[in-house]
Amino acid sequence: MNKKMITLALGITAFSSVPMMAQAGSVEAGKDAFEACRGCHTSPSTSNVYPTYYVPKVGGQVAGYTVAALKAYQKSERPHRTMMANVYDLSDKTIEDIAAYLATATGSARASANGGDAAKGKKLAESCMACHNDDTNAGVTNPRLAGQHQNYLEKAMQGYQSGARKNALMQSMVQGLSEDEVKDIAAYFTSLKGLTAVK
Ligand code: HEC
Ligand code: HEC
Repeated sequence: MNKKMITLALGITAFSSVPMMAQAGSVEAGKDAFEACRGCHTSPSTSNVYPTYYVPKVGGQVAGYTVAALKAYQKSERPHRTMMANVYDLSDKTIEDIAAYLATATGSARASANGGDAAKGKKLAESCMACHNDDTNAGVTNPRLAGQHQNYLEKAMQGYQSGARKNALMQSMVQGLSEDEVKDIAAYFTSLKGLTAVK
C-alpha cells in the first residue's frame, strides 16, 4: 500500500466511525428531554383514561425498541393521540437520547396484575421466548415484556389482533390466541421481574 492509499484508508475509517458515535444516545440529554414525559410515565399506577389501562412501564426498556416505538407514533403506525402529540416534534437525536436514558432508568418494579393463569401463560409463551427472553442488549428491537402491567400487555396484543397496531410479525404471532390465552400470557409476563416505572 503506498502512502496515498494508507491516508485514504485511514480517512475512510475515521469517517465511518462518525455516524456510529452519533448514534449512541446521551443519557444526560435524554433525562432532560424526558421531563415532559414524567407526568404519565413515572408513577407506577397512572392510568390511560379510556380505554382504561396502565401507562406502560418504560424504565429498563431495550433502547432499540424505545426508538422504534416512538417513531411508530410519529408515523401513526400506533394510533394513540396523546403519545402522537407528545412525540411528533422530537428529533431523531432526542429520540436516541431518551431511549439511552430509559434503558438505564430505575424505579418502582411494582406491576399491576388483573387475573388470568400465569402457569398456563408460561406454557403458551414458549414460542415467544426466542424474542422476548429479556435480553436487554442494546441494538435489539424486541421489547422487554417482563414486569410490564398486565392490562397494557393485553391491550397491546388485542391491538395487533385487530390491526389497530400495525406490525406484521406480531400480528401473525398473536392472531390465533383466544381472549383467555391473551390474559394468561399477559399474567405470566407481568409476574416476572424486569421493567420499572421511572423514578
Ligand atoms: C398524558 C400521558 C402521557 C405522556 C405525557 C407521555 N406518555 Fe408515553 N405513553 C402513554 C400511554 C397511555 C402509552 C400507551 C399508548 C398505546 O397504547 O400505544 C404510552 C406509550 C409510550 C411508549 C411505548 C411503550 C411500549 O411498551 O410500547 C413509550 C416509549 C413512551 N410512551 C414514551 C414517552 C415519552 C418519551 C414521552 C415524552 C416525550 C411520553 N411517553 C409522554 C402516556 C403518556
Ligand atoms: C420473532 C420475534 C418475536 C416473537 C417470536 C414474538 N415477538 Fe412479540 N414483539 C416482537 C417485536 C419486534 C415487537 C415490537 C413490535 C412493534 O413495534 O409493534 C413485539 C411486541 C410485542 C408486544 C408489545 C410490547 C409493548 O411494549 O407494547 C407484546 C405484548 C408481544 N410482542 C407479545 C408476544 C407474544 C405473546 C408472543 C408469542 C405468542 C410474541 N410476542 C412473539 C418480536 C417477537
